[in-house]
Amino acid sequence: MEIIESKKIFMKLIDKANETLKSNNIPRYKFHLTANSGWSNDPNGLIYFKNHYHVFFQNNPFAQNTSQIFWGHFVSTDLIKWKQVKFALAPNQEYDADGCFSGSAIVIKNKLILVYTGHKKIADSYLETVCLAESEDGIQFKKITNNPIILPNFENNTKRFRDPKIFSQSGFYYILIGGESRKKKGQLLLYRSKSIYQGWEYIGKVENKSSDFGNMIECPDYFDIADRTVIIGSPKGIKTSEKHGFDACYYIEKFNFNNGQLPLGKKLDYGRDFYAPQTLYNPLNNERLLIGWFGLPGEQEKESEYHFNSIGALTIPRKISERDGILITEPASEYLKLRRGHNKKVEKNKQYSVQSEFTFSNITNSFSLRIFSKKAEYFLKFENNVLIVRITDMIEERVDKVVGLKQINFLDLFIDNGLTELFINKGEKVVSNKCEFMSKTIKIDTDWSDKVIGLNYSLKSIYE
Ligand code: FRU
Repeated sequence: MEIIESKKIFMKLIDKANETLKSNNIPRYKFHLTANSGWSNDPNGLIYFKNHYHVFFQNNPFAQNTSQIFWGHFVSTDLIKWKQVKFALAPNQEYDADGCFSGSAIVIKNKLILVYTGHKKIADSYLETVCLAESEDGIQFKKITNNPIILPNFENNTKRFRDPKIFSQSGFYYILIGGESRKKKGQLLLYRSKSIYQGWEYIGKVENKSSDFGNMIECPDYFDIADRTVIIGSPKGIKTSEKHGFDACYYIEKFNFNNGQLPLGKKLDYGRDFYAPQTLYNPLNNERLLIGWFGLPGEQEKESEYHFNSIGALTIPRKISERDGILITEPASEYLKLRRGHNKKVEKNKQYSVQSEFTFSNITNSFSLRIFSKKAEYFLKFENNVLIVRITDMIEERVDKVVGLKQINFLDLFIDNGLTELFINKGEKVVSNKCEFMSKTIKIDTDWSDKVIGLNYSLKSIYE
């Protein structure tokens, strides 16, 4: 396969982006992946290749907006320590001039292949296509000459045609693409080919049963767990007042790509700031991990006025398991290794680091828990099977509800500056919310039985 030789314009833009890494900013978060600078959103192309875990992500290193989207890149050998390396993709070709949008990765014959969305503006609209780039070392990527490999078919889909998920099955490669039907229903389109580089044929699609479930499904993922097939998708335009109509869902069905219908997906996270998750198969532990964007379109933009080095982060990796058609997502076991030996007993009105982990066990009935600094408050109240999460910070006051909990007996709460990630009952439900404490320390106030045991762990940094 002939590859485009590094064009001048290509070198310039990607080199300029790589220059930003030299500034080596102190990461705003300690144990959540965040870009060195600018804006970041979706995780992309999560994969294990040549003894390294790779996490790519949507990043504009130059500004806190989405005007120029690159694929940023983190690598790790152990899922604990991470390093941001050179940018993998820059928006430097005619077909991706306005963004190398989301996609996925696959390993074929010792090469790491990225399958991504070429986004380009045209007149009052835009064109989205499926494109490929490949690498032998997993760091330096070359876009192939016959990009794009798939163009949208406007007879069965609108211009919203993005976020290809690549996988292989029974001698074929498949690509699942997020789209919107002509009737404005979210849908997923399936393509198939014997060769990764060409010959892609359209197989069929599944679509939302109702337009109330969203007009588009972004960032699909597709995998088997135990003996079930799971699709993950992030529908947008859902008729709900929650999360501005965005959500991150999963579907465990028998999928019928011959115009089959999708029910309303099940939630992957009950917090406000969680979107566009993808999974990583970890061959070393034979486990599947889920990583989401710790942010939401329309929400993260509000941080840009506070002049942080970078806005946007990824959640900690969550191990997925399946129980009776329900996905359980608990912190990846590697995160336990970040704990620094000792723990402190949690006591009211003592100060704790704003970058640490809290666990609470032996909880038996209704309770409230308040974590606060001078600038912000994170408040939980559990009553009548509903958990109320109220965040008050400089950005806003907001209340989310977690329903369908019979009881809560264990909480695992990770606080990392402005990020709060709460695991309920060992991953039965997860709640990810931003809460800008704007302080090095926080205090705790509780209203629950004396039998509850609270522990605080200081955590090591995940940055090399
Ligand atoms: C989801 C998304 C994707 C798109 C990317 C652009 O957050 O809108 O659909 O590819 O972000 O950054």
